[in-house]
Amino acid sequence: MTPPRYAPSQKVLHWAVAALVFALVPIALAMANLPDGALKNALYEWHKSLGLTVLGLAVARLLVRAARGAPALVEGLPAWQRRAARASHRALYLLIVLVPLLGWAGTSVCCAPVMLYSTVPLTLPISGGMPVGETILTVHQVAAFALVALVVAHVAAALHHHLVRRDGTLRRMWWGRGEG
Ligand code: HEM
Ligand code: HEM
Repeated sequence: MTPPRYAPSQKVLHWAVAALVFALVPIALAMANLPDGALKNALYEWHKSLGLTVLGLAVARLLVRAARGAPALVEGLPAWQRRAARASHRALYLLIVLVPLLGWAGTSVCCAPVMLYSTVPLTLPISGGMPVGETILTVHQVAAFALVALVVAHVAAALHHHLVRRDGTLRRMWWGRGEG
């Protein structure tokens, strides 16, 4: 039988990725706009390590999703909303993998060794130099802003379900009474 809620592991991964993305975007904007110095460098390192953490969690999410599936959408939604929900969820999954992969590839090509939390060296063995790296990082930036736009729509939809339709959609991704 289809479970009425997401599995606990799916909820933990969903909210961990969301929290990290909400931290990563302001860190990115700050690091890109600060003058050169220790703070800017530290923010770059945090951005790269937290971004790689998102990549790891996103892959875990996809594996759990493949194994556990998802509860059927709530009853009574018009067809276009069902299609929009499925398409936007797929696009969110795609972007939480693609955005950090592009950042990782771009940084590896052009700029600096990639170290995970100043410990594990994770530079990808790809070459191309500054122009290629900069192009990949531009695509990374555009894809990251597309992710932000999609998250805004996703949150608006979640709030609409919760506050206007009051149909329990948000509770499927949250903890509470009746937990299976
Ligand atoms: C979900 C994960 C990520 C998100 C949401 C994200 C978001 C962003 C955004 C919005 C920018 C643009 C900042 C600006 O120029 O205004 C940016 C830049 C950048 N990101 Fe990421 N990023 C992620 C993962 C990564 C990873 C994993 C790496 C490298 C390992 C990385 C490396 C970079 C670098 C080097 C820049 C600066 C490019 C430049 O200076 O022009 N990012 N990121
Ligand atoms: C970076 C931020 C976020 C990302 C990448 C994201 C991504 C996703 C994805 C891919 C799904 C589909 C899960 C599946 O079917 O396997 C989902 C479901 C969901 N998300 Fe998010 N989400 C984010 C933030 C949020 C926030 C802030 C809220 C609430 C305000 C939220 C509420 C929900 C709800 C309620 C569902 C379940 C929808 C349903 O049961 O049909 N998400 N999210």
